Amino acid sequence: MKTEKTITGDVDPDVLEYTVGDDPVLDMDLVRWDCLGTAAHVTMLSEMPVEPPVVTKDEAARVRAALASVVADKTFVVREQDQDVHMAVETRLTETLGDLGKKIHTGRSRNDQVAVDVRLHIKDQLHSLTAELADLASALVAFGRAHDRVPMVGRTHLQPAMPSSVGVWATGHAEMILDQTANLEAAYKINDACPLGSAAGYGVPLPLDRKRTSDLLGFERPMHNVFGASMGRGEDEAALLSALAQLMSVLSRLAEDMILFSMPEFGYFSLPRAYCTGSSIMPQKYNPDVLELVRSKTAQVLGLATAALSMLHAMPGGYNRDLQDCKGLYMKGLSITRTTLRILAKFVRGMGVDEAKLRAGFIPGVFATDVALRKVASGTPWREAYHQVRDNLEALSSESPDAAVAAKTHAGATAGLDYGIYESRIALVVMQTMKRRAEFEAKMDALFTM
Ligand code: ARG
Repeated sequence: MKTEKTITGDVDPDVLEYTVGDDPVLDMDLVRWDCLGTAAHVTMLSEMPVEPPVVTKDEAARVRAALASVVADKTFVVREQDQDVHMAVETRLTETLGDLGKKIHTGRSRNDQVAVDVRLHIKDQLHSLTAELADLASALVAFGRAHDRVPMVGRTHLQPAMPSSVGVWATGHAEMILDQTANLEAAYKINDACPLGSAAGYGVPLPLDRKRTSDLLGFERPMHNVFGASMGRGEDEAALLSALAQLMSVLSRLAEDMILFSMPEFGYFSLPRAYCTGSSIMPQKYNPDVLELVRSKTAQVLGLATAALSMLHAMPGGYNRDLQDCKGLYMKGLSITRTTLRILAKFVRGMGVDEAKLRAGFIPGVFATDVALRKVASGTPWREAYHQVRDNLEALSSESPDAAVAAKTHAGATAGLDYGIYESRIALVVMQTMKRRAEFEAKMDALFTM
């Protein structure tokens, strides 16, 4: 029988291809994190109170230097016979360091190794994603500020409902987006724990210092239970994907509003022509393809989250190879969500406002509720006022959109928007993200240079 040679034995080529799957491509995003995880593990091994030492302090320093050069090596690749980044790095270290390279996997399994890689990768990605989310929110708040009191018909069931404003529209979307930081923060917290030392999911008979590796890698804490640490693989990615799915669904509503209100029939907003694509047959066309794709990408991220949860449901405890397939799901989800945040920020910043079209949308009925409430203010019971207005809708044609916008002064309404609330929420998210990223990067730098 024809077989392929791997670190863990000779394998049928079709079996190898099927089990390796997309790892050689996907794992390229994990190279840096795999090397850092190994640097922390080997450093801890060199400090372990055993005689003779598994690796000496000097050997650990040589391993860290070799790992740093793997990260710097632009030609480093994961080949199919390596199976994944973990074995590719071990093979490389054995080539460069000889027998010392063969020691780095002491007290480890690829199960805790890949789990730590994924967690470091997710943490890094979440720093960028959170900054991108804050940037989109800030674009919306600036758009709202610039057109704060410009009257805009508020809709329910898509039908004209009550007087509103561009400020309310824009900051309403900003608030929904900012609220999603709570879900992302939950995913961040679940992710901020170190599975290292759980090995295959049942620990090892060596005095590993799990707190030490966790600290070296900048995690908030080690995951305590070794079996739990192995089951965190997949659950961690699913928590992230669930947060991304809801964020994308919030973004798709913004995109849909932008499509609707930039249609010529509304014309409230306009998109720069360069942001739209034309038609090969209809010379007049400028289509908002990007915004349409936000809808389809949202469907994809919902699918990715569902795929991860479906994969996990009723999976037996402990490592199962199914978990490998979670990798592509979360990576794709992150990539789609991040590009969507960035392109939407660009669209919001480029969007124009047509005040005349916005005012033209104020058909008399839009003022009905406000006028009925004025009657209440002069003593008419609500239901009577409601019927008086309903029976005499023509009388509303002299109402002014600007006066209606100015009349709603309570918190969060057309004349009661506090932009400072949004600006300080955004500033807080930006500051926390910058601080976290700086602390994280300092830990990572220190590992290779210690
Ligand atoms: N590439 C594998 C994954 O992503 C690494 C872990 C393999 N572990 C195992 N027990 N076969 O899941």
